[in-house]
Amino acid sequence: MPLVPPYIAALRPYEAGRSSEEVRREFGLVRVIKLASNENPLGPSPLALERMRDATGALNLYPNGGLDLRRELARQYDVRVENVIAGSGSEGIMSNIIRAFLCDEDETLTTESAFIGFQTLAKSRGVAYRTVPYKDWHYDLEALAGQINERTKIIYLANPNNPTGTIFTRHEFDRFYTNVPERALIILDEAYFEYAKDNPRYPDSMHYRYDNVITLRTFSKVYGLAGIRIGYGFAHQELIANLLKVKLPFEPSTLAQAAGIGALADKEFLHHSLELNARGLKFLSASLQELGLTVVASESNLTMIVLPSEEQAAQLTTELAMQGIIVRSLKSFGLPQCIRISTGTDGENRRCVEALNSTSIRACVSVK
Ligand SMILES: Cc1ncc(COP(=O)(O)O)c(C=O)c1O
Repeated sequence: MPLVPPYIAALRPYEAGRSSEEVRREFGLVRVIKLASNENPLGPSPLALERMRDATGALNLYPNGGLDLRRELARQYDVRVENVIAGSGSEGIMSNIIRAFLCDEDETLTTESAFIGFQTLAKSRGVAYRTVPYKDWHYDLEALAGQINERTKIIYLANPNNPTGTIFTRHEFDRFYTNVPERALIILDEAYFEYAKDNPRYPDSMHYRYDNVITLRTFSKVYGLAGIRIGYGFAHQELIANLLKVKLPFEPSTLAQAAGIGALADKEFLHHSLELNARGLKFLSASLQELGLTVVASESNLTMIVLPSEEQAAQLTTELAMQGIIVRSLKSFGLPQCIRISTGTDGENRRCVEALNSTSIRACVSVK
């Protein structure tokens, strides 16, 4: 008799991007540039670091479950503290949503090759996981609406999306929403919202106060705090109250909470990071297109390229790694012919393009 249920036995553990140390050792390199996990190449927000240092004196005490950060977010977004949750990254909160809302007979619905973190979490619950194909690398909201049935409990939408970097528009979301019954919960994962928020077509979900929508955001990306694990969510107070029942009581940690509060105040770092990213995205996508590659237009801090075959994508990933550039193979997402490149510093982006120029990529794309 197996110890775990079959849906756990069948799961593949979350596969993170390769670390710099791993690649350095494998290829005997001195310098490695990691453009694989959509992290901020500038490092962590300095104000976040300052607040973390200030908080160290209280590390002998249990934290207060994110209350200080929730209060600060409520103040800044003009909502009540009861509408806000803080957790160990947005994935921490996502895991609580899965625990709190899914029953055995429920179904989840999302796009094909959705963010791998959601795929893993949803499948770990053993309920039906249903998807619809992308439409030109965008969420096909019309097709998704057509797939909603009486068992659909969670609909997961990442906007901007990972791994494609694309967005759906306000207009598309409004039309989609009219098809969603009240008993289905929409997770609007806005991990990359800061990168898209100035696009007038982008539907900042804080403008929607729907009872069955939860917005998730994170400090992992533009604030450079992926390593401390801090994220937050906004929703109707009943929804938040239920999530608080299943959340680990002392999550997030004292340091993570302090980092979040510091980061929210760090407007200069935010501005600098967004500027660098916009420049990097433009440079990378123009350079990749010049090389003859198919690049998906991105509103995020990543660029997805589509290669003619799985073999060519794998070869390119390896050839880049050998030159000390780590990019993300999207095989584990279910897109083996695609790779994802995160924006780096100006120097890192240039180095990445130089490295690409010396791979066999030209021969590879001319096969198309
Ligand atoms: C769409 C999306 N959601 C959530 C996350 C995870 O965020 P966090 O670090 O806050 O758990 C990521 C990280 O890559 C992401 O791409």
